Amino acid sequence: MVTTETFKDRSFSPTKTLLPWTVCALFPIALIRLFFYPLPFSPFPKTDLSRSTSNSITYHSSLSVSASPPSSASTENGKTNETKSCNYFNGEWVSDSRGPLYNDTTCGTIKKGRNCITHGRPDLGYLQWRWKPNECNLPRFEPQTFLQLIHNKHVAFVGDSVARNQLESLLCMLATASTPNLVYNYKKGTDNQFSRWHFAPHNASISLYWSPFLVHGIEKSNTDLNNKLYLDHVDEGWAKDMDQMDLIVLSFGHWLLLPAVYHEGESVLGCHYCPGLNHTEIGFYDVFRKALRTTLNSIIDKRRGKGNGIDIIVTTFTPHHFEGDWDKAGACPKTKPYSNEEKKLEGMDAEMRKIEIEEVEDAKTKANEFGRLRLEALDVTKLALLRPDGHPGPYMNPSPFVNGNVEHVQNDCVHWCLPGPIDTWNEIFLEMIKKWENQPRTED
Ligand SMILES: *[C@@H]1O[C@H](CO)[C@@H](O)[C@H](O)[C@H]1NC(C)=O
Ligand SMILES: *[C@@H]1O[C@H](CO)[C@@H](O)[C@H](O)[C@H]1NC(C)=O
Ligand SMILES: *[C@@H]1O[C@H](CO)[C@@H](O)[C@H](O)[C@H]1NC(C)=O
Ligand SMILES: *[C@@H]1O[C@H](CO)[C@@H](O)[C@H](O)[C@H]1NC(C)=O
Repeated sequence: MVTTETFKDRSFSPTKTLLPWTVCALFPIALIRLFFYPLPFSPFPKTDLSRSTSNSITYHSSLSVSASPPSSASTENGKTNETKSCNYFNGEWVSDSRGPLYNDTTCGTIKKGRNCITHGRPDLGYLQWRWKPNECNLPRFEPQTFLQLIHNKHVAFVGDSVARNQLESLLCMLATASTPNLVYNYKKGTDNQFSRWHFAPHNASISLYWSPFLVHGIEKSNTDLNNKLYLDHVDEGWAKDMDQMDLIVLSFGHWLLLPAVYHEGESVLGCHYCPGLNHTEIGFYDVFRKALRTTLNSIIDKRRGKGNGIDIIVTTFTPHHFEGDWDKAGACPKTKPYSNEEKKLEGMDAEMRKIEIEEVEDAKTKANEFGRLRLEALDVTKLALLRPDGHPGPYMNPSPFVNGNVEHVQNDCVHWCLPGPIDTWNEIFLEMIKKWENQPRTED
C-alpha cells in the first residue's frame, strides 16, 4: 500500500497543472487500485435476493439461433451488395426485451470481477438494450456463423484487460453453440495472461496475449514505480507467434495513462508522471500513437505477401465512467444508457479514438500496397461512452454490501459486465468479418 500512496502523491504533484491530460489526472489512482490492488476475493455466500428482480430477463439458447451461413457469404466473385454497407458505429441504444444470448453460468470462463449477475447486481435493466445503427439493423450474434468464418483459423486477442473482457464475451457467446476447450493457460495471480481455446468441430482457435502496451514494455514493480515502454520494439510476447495468427484483435490504451518512462532507440524520449527523474513530461497521446504505429508496421512488415495473409482489427479506446470517488458506492451509478444528445464524445476519449482511427487508415494505405492484409477499426468508443450502466461498479466483488459496508467499496467503472454492452462489440466484429468474406484480400 505504500506504493499506492506514492502514486497518490504524485498525481497531485504540481506538474499536472495546465497539462492537457489534467482531466484524467485522478483516474490513474483508480486504475492502479483496480489493476494492482484488487481486494482479495471473498467467497461470501451467494445471495438469491438479486434473483427475484431478474425473472423478467429471458436468455436465448443457441437452439433458437439460425445456424445457416450469412446470406452475404454466397455472393460470388467478391462483389459486394450495396445494401450490406452500413456504418455500424453511428446509432443509438434502444430498449430491447430479448436479453442476452447467454447468462452468468453458460460459459464458465467469465472472470469473477465481470460476473455482475452472480455477484448480486440487483438491477438487470442494463441487459435489455440493443445497439441500433442509423443506417441498418445490427443482427444478433450468430455463434455458428462466427465459427464457420474462423474455420481452421487462429484468432488472437492482444492487449490489456479490456481486450480480455472482449474475448471473454466472445467465448461466452460462442459457447452457446460449441464448447471452447482450454488448451493452454498461463496465469499471473488469478488473471489469465496467455490462454488458448480450441473449438474442435471447427478447428478454430481463439487466444489471449497479455500485452498492455503492444510494444515491448516492462511493467512497474515494487522497485520501479514507472512502466517502461520501448516504443520502437513490438512486444515479442505475442509477436513471436504472429506467423500462426490469421486474425489479430488489438485493444489497449488504459495502461498508457499510468506513470511511465518512454524509450525509443537508444534514447529516452520523455515520461509521463515521473517527478524525481530528469525526463521531460510528454503526456501519452504521441506515445499511444507510436506504440500503435510500431505494432501495425511490424505486422505489415512480417506478414506482407506471405502465406494466406492476415486480418487486423483495432478495437478503439473505451471510456471509463467514474463519476466520483472510486471507493464510494455510486462511482458509476447510472442504470440506463445516455442518449446521443446527453453525451458527446470529447476530451481524452475522443483524442485516443482519433489517434487509432488515423493510424488504422495510414496502415490500410500501406497494407494495400502489399495485399493479403485486411485491417479495420472496431470503432466502439461512442457505443461505449453511451453505456455508463454497463460496468460492474461495486459488483466487481461478490455481494459488496453484505456487511453493511457502504462507506468504502471498490468499484470498477472501466471494464464491462458479462453479459453486457461489450457483447455488442462482438456482434459488430462478426459483421466486419462477414463483410470481409465478400471482399477477398487482394492478391499481389
Ligand atoms: C442486394 O440485396 C438486396 C436485399 O437483400 C437484394 O434485393 C438485391 O437483389 C441484392 N443485390 C445483389 C446485386 O445481389
Ligand atoms: C443459464 O443458461 C443455461 C444454459 O446455458 C441454462 O441451463 C440456465 O437455466 C440459465 N440460467 C438462467 C438463470 O436462466
Ligand atoms: C487447424 O487450424 C490450424 C490453424 O489454427 C491449421 O494450421 C491446421 O492446419 C488446421 N488443421 C487441419 C486439419 O486443417
Ligand atoms: C537534467 O537534464 C538536463 C538536460 O539533459 C541537464 O542539463 C541537467 O544537468 C540534468 N539535471 C540533473 C540533475 O541531472
